[in-house]
Amino acid sequence: MIKSMKSLTRQIKAIIDKDLPLITNLSNVSALLNTLEDINWCGFYLTNKDYLYLGPFQGEVACTIIPFDKGVCGYTYQKKETVIVPNVNEFKGHIACSSKSKSEIVTPIIVNNEVKALIDIDAPILDRFHAEDKELLEEIAEVLKELFYE
Ligand code: SME
Repeated sequence: MIKSMKSLTRQIKAIIDKDLPLITNLSNVSALLNTLEDINWCGFYLTNKDYLYLGPFQGEVACTIIPFDKGVCGYTYQKKETVIVPNVNEFKGHIACSSKSKSEIVTPIIVNNEVKALIDIDAPILDRFHAEDKELLEEIAEVLKELFYE
């Protein structure tokens, strides 16, 4: 499991090309994230000055716009750190895009102290995400930072 997770970061490093549009890179990264086991949704929310909006993803249709103070995504945006939710039904204000999602992890991509995007992954089982997933997503967020430099 850990071994395949390490190779995921390697594959992401190999596939991204900062000379291509952001959407192009994130689309392929979402496909690679989707190779993780026991997940039912993975993708990105991007930020503008007013809200979070849906970026490239794999999975069911999802909410297009999330206010900065709503849901696990809004909470992560404000905390500026990874949030793991073992049981989404116990998270006050969780936004349920799919009734299949039971647990969730969200990691911010931060450039110059500004949250540029969130990596969001949902799982169809309770308590799916732990310290090694946090470590993996934070490593991936670090790799993806270069796509957001202006
Ligand atoms: N559950 C998220 C909303 C996005 S979906 O999981 C794709 C939230 O509470 O912010």
